Amino acid sequence: MSLSKKGSSATSIVIFGASGDLTARKLVPALFNQYCKGRLPEDFHIVGTARSEFSHEQFREKMRRGVEELANFECPKQEWMEFSQRLWYLRGDIKQSRDYAAMDSFLQKLEGAPVNRLYYLATAPSLFPIVVQELGKAGMAHERDGWRRIIIEKPFGRDSKSALELNNVIHSVFNEQQVYRIDHYLGKETAQNILYFRFLNTIFEPTWNRNYISHVQLTVAEDVDVQHRAGYYDNAGVVRDMFQNHLLQLLTLVAMEPPATFAADAVRNEKVKVLQAVRPIRVEDTVRGQYEGYCQAEGVADGSQTPTYAALRLYIDNWRWQSVPFYLRSGKALQHKTSEVVVEFKSPPHVMFPLPEGYELNQNFLSLCIQPDEGIHLRFETKVPDTQQETRSVEMDFHYRDSFGGEPLPDAYEPLLLDALEGDASLFTRSDEIEAAWGIIDPVLKAWEDASPAHGVETYGRGTWGPTEAEAFIQRDGFMWRFGCSDSEQ
Ligand code: BG6
Repeated sequence: MSLSKKGSSATSIVIFGASGDLTARKLVPALFNQYCKGRLPEDFHIVGTARSEFSHEQFREKMRRGVEELANFECPKQEWMEFSQRLWYLRGDIKQSRDYAAMDSFLQKLEGAPVNRLYYLATAPSLFPIVVQELGKAGMAHERDGWRRIIIEKPFGRDSKSALELNNVIHSVFNEQQVYRIDHYLGKETAQNILYFRFLNTIFEPTWNRNYISHVQLTVAEDVDVQHRAGYYDNAGVVRDMFQNHLLQLLTLVAMEPPATFAADAVRNEKVKVLQAVRPIRVEDTVRGQYEGYCQAEGVADGSQTPTYAALRLYIDNWRWQSVPFYLRSGKALQHKTSEVVVEFKSPPHVMFPLPEGYELNQNFLSLCIQPDEGIHLRFETKVPDTQQETRSVEMDFHYRDSFGGEPLPDAYEPLLLDALEGDASLFTRSDEIEAAWGIIDPVLKAWEDASPAHGVETYGRGTWGPTEAEAFIQRDGFMWRFGCSDSEQ
């Protein structure tokens, strides 16, 4: 994770699939904001390509609207004028070899001299192998005249087999060091801060294990439904869309051992070990649901059984985490948006206070709030003043907005794009991590295919917290779902 000084070497950034949402909503705003902060290389060009017809000016205008409407920062006019002069568009068909040759000569003309190149695959996933192979055929992956890197968007395959095949295609053209598989959750400040919080403070790490922690909950809840993405989503479902990538990545940050250095591979080695230690998940360790009305959305197959909500319980079979359950849940059309990690601590071994009979002591828990109200909260017990026996849970809170001047946090794509330009892959997913993550998810998907109706998809109301079975599921273990970052306890 580098917050670079201005890079000195000239670089071209080529975005494949540039007419899509991601380019206007995320990529160009992120690059522009980094430009305004003086962090892009002094000499750079950004070239978008897709099948649609745009002139350079039309493309610039489309991007300007994206920055103005969608970015969480002001778009300074003068800077935009300068930046947009480095934005270009070249129409091209991803399936045509000749269009890669045309792209290469367009780039060479712009560049004037050999420079670095970063390719961004923002296309439909089915096109990833084609772009990679065509780049290879056109000699555009060769590093003789500067580095060549490629960023690949999710979804990375739809199971172990397809992920492995995709990795093989990529490795037939690019070395692993040139490959940056992006997971935007790792670009979120608060996700990165999990490692800083754990390994830069000595207060919590001694308790961060099976001796003190009773269980861990990871929640990524969304209030939006599938919106216009049903075509993709109905084939993917919540587990491929959110668990294989974002939730398992968060899990690795919460559970990994401290690496000796912060070098990309040292960090990723530790993350991979966590994934490899996850015990196979059984169907009894899962709950799935679908929100009411999902099947009526355009693009959803009749009678679709695609889950839009899932909760999983998993165990990490290693020294630190033996027998500690990790509960992961995510869903769409839930009551509100929140992404958080809750670490619940064990009860004290002996309570010496004369608490009333039947009194249930509340557990301490720590909440790492990823979004939207980014921060960290610690809940602990305290004596209610002027009483003899009463206790109450109170909170110690840290909010980014209060401690860091209230500026919105940078969008997750900003640090990630910068890191790829700087050659820092620590926040990108390595091929073995991808394969290990699918190794966890495949059996869940398979178990659901084979499951009896008792483990089928339960319908849940929009604006609720998911299927009722999700409640029963965690309560059977003696716990309850926590919301440590807001007051929406269920
Ligand atoms: C994407 C998923 O990866 O993450 C979407 O494909 C989901 O379905 C999105 O809505 C959530 O991201 P965030 O940053 O809004 O939590």
